[in-house]
Amino acid sequence: MTTTIRYDRGADGIVTLTLDDPDQSANTMNRAYAASMSAVLDRLEAERDDVTGVIVTSAKSTFFAGGDLPEMIRATREDAPALAELLGTIKRDLRRLETLGRPVVAAVNGSALGGGLEIALACHHRIALGAPGSRLGLPEVTLGLLPGAGGVTRTVRMLGLAGALTTVLLTGRRMRPTDALAAGIVDEVVATPTELLDRARAWIAANPRPRQPWDRPDYRMPGGIPASRSLAAQLPAFPATLRKQLKGARLPAPEAILATAVEGAQVDLETALTVETRHLIGLLTGQVAKNMIGAFFFDLKAVNGGAARPSVDVPPVRRVAVLGAGMMGAGIAYVCASAGIDVVVRDVTAEAAGRAREHAERLLARKVRKGRATEADARAVLDRITTTDQVDALAGCDAVIEAVFEDPALKKAVFAEVLPVLAPDALIASNTSTLPITGLAAGVDRPADFIGMHFFSPVDRMPLLEIVVGEQTGDAALARAFDLGRRIGKTPIVVNDGRGFFTSRVIGRFIDEAVGMVAEGVPAASVEQAALQAGYPTGPLALADEVSLTLIQRIRRQFEAASEEFLPLPAHRLVDELVDAYERPGRAAGRGFYSYDDGTRGRLWSGLADLATDAGRAVPFTDLQERMLFAEALDALRCLDEGVLRTETDANIGSIFGIGFPAWTGGVIRYVRQYAGGPAGFAARAAELADRYGDRFTPPADLVDRLAARPAEPAGVA
Ligand code: NAI
Repeated sequence: MTTTIRYDRGADGIVTLTLDDPDQSANTMNRAYAASMSAVLDRLEAERDDVTGVIVTSAKSTFFAGGDLPEMIRATREDAPALAELLGTIKRDLRRLETLGRPVVAAVNGSALGGGLEIALACHHRIALGAPGSRLGLPEVTLGLLPGAGGVTRTVRMLGLAGALTTVLLTGRRMRPTDALAAGIVDEVVATPTELLDRARAWIAANPRPRQPWDRPDYRMPGGIPASRSLAAQLPAFPATLRKQLKGARLPAPEAILATAVEGAQVDLETALTVETRHLIGLLTGQVAKNMIGAFFFDLKAVNGGAARPSVDVPPVRRVAVLGAGMMGAGIAYVCASAGIDVVVRDVTAEAAGRAREHAERLLARKVRKGRATEADARAVLDRITTTDQVDALAGCDAVIEAVFEDPALKKAVFAEVLPVLAPDALIASNTSTLPITGLAAGVDRPADFIGMHFFSPVDRMPLLEIVVGEQTGDAALARAFDLGRRIGKTPIVVNDGRGFFTSRVIGRFIDEAVGMVAEGVPAASVEQAALQAGYPTGPLALADEVSLTLIQRIRRQFEAASEEFLPLPAHRLVDELVDAYERPGRAAGRGFYSYDDGTRGRLWSGLADLATDAGRAVPFTDLQERMLFAEALDALRCLDEGVLRTETDANIGSIFGIGFPAWTGGVIRYVRQYAGGPAGFAARAAELADRYGDRFTPPADLVDRLAARPAEPAGVA
């Protein structure tokens, strides 16, 4: 088997272990690593008398990437014994390393995530190179896993139960080296690779016989060992974190992490390590981890890697014109300027335009306060934002992103006004959330350069960009929009045109279904709770308030005016009554489904039940959840059939990152494929919902065959 760790003993007796898997671009905790580490420990133990210390470092740009995800995603129940043995070997060897009786220092030269950080945690001292882009953390929870190479066991012993759970284990936070230092995960941060090794040697010289804190006789766990062995008794200690992490849903990974941490805290280290293995195997052989690894690793890699980008050479965008300094325009200006791109924001008055700058100032001030940016960085970003009410100020911009009100006539007018002053080959983009791109492009004389760039609110935080290709959009425009999206740090899915594209259309079904249930008479609180427990990050009624009921109403009327197939739903009646009769248009007005005082969400409005056709109607809880999930999934399937969606990967990524489809599913189409009984089981359940609740749930006739004919993407892993 390939050797992935080099062993070099210097004249001073210091052994440098260099992690360097020759077969991969990054080191991972695969079988070759396990075998190499065992061989290294055999040798270290044999040569111990000549060894003064050990430095663990890496020859790759990242220190160590983590677990062997392709192997994990394939793991079945039959593989459990072999996996347990492999994990046992990996942990035993890290234990041999920390009890060697010689100082062991991790010289973390780049990112150390998951397994990489776990190796470092088994060292007596951790020094991180403060390289830009370098991140440390245990992100396993975000893949439906837990850190199973000693990560839970050692962080709990280093930081205490509450500290470990809230700073690293349940958040999965990827920390900058300085943040890792503050969190107590590393001991030193240095500026240069030379310093990294010098400090490691110096520490070894000064600490000839170190022991891990937990191997000292006087060791006490920070915060103390909890008195009770019961998991439930520990829960009150972490309600806030758990609530945030679980969002009401009972997700297997956070629960397993909590159980591992609490059980492990009661027993000795060796036993705790086996507890960890048992819980990790449970997660590895379950479906949720496979869904999440599929989406959050493989799908994300395919999308960000440019699977949908045409391979044409295009010039990078240098200066962007943003039209409209509202919520979206200001956000777009900020993310562009933050990525080093010059931005000119235009609105109807200088004062309105100036709001884009104020928005950036607010976000930058917060970053500076939190130590995430220096005053100089902030100033440089602000200097890239110009605001104006003059069209001429946009002269020479080589891209325009329009974000004025959602009104096709207004959008056409602003394009007509500004295009003459832009660079002659400028990229022309609209941030419309629903209007078909082909129709908007008909109003400009270069429709090949016209494209949809649909951002999500708040722009600086939402990772998705939905790029919408109109009938006449050319490859060069798509490539430029894609490159711009990547430069500003977004994950760009590419979809074909249609009213509402993919995301706005599908999230509309979710809101309609939820509001419809309230209109039928299901208690509003039950609808919200059902969604949260299904794993949606926000309840649909809170979301509707956020979007604003007036906007929902306006979009529906545009659909109707375009006389596309549209069903009159009970939801529409309820929205109309709330807006028109009860003046409850949503959050911005302080009143919608909820009431808002001083901007914070209060209670659901008590008048809702009176507007329902059958107040207090009892619908099984599973039906409440599945009506929402299926409404979205069925419409996503239609988007695939109609060609709005080009790939399942885009659907999965877009649904999780853009519209909050529950992450444990691994995305909306994976949900269909993995439903109990597979696509056939999904179709049968949809037919049942159609019988009970209406034709909109009728599954596509040949759903099973069609999904079978279409290989799951990316090939081989999903
Ligand atoms: P907004 O109402 O906050 O801002 C619109 C801005 O456009 C206002 O500042 C207005 O003064 C300005 N404006 C109007 N006429 C103008 C003109 N002739 N020239 C320059 N500026 C002009 O609206 P918001 O929410 O930022 O939405 C803008 C666009 O983004 C809409 O098309 C919307 O559908 C879309 N969108 C909205 C999302 C959201 O969550 N609000 C999400 C994604 C897209």
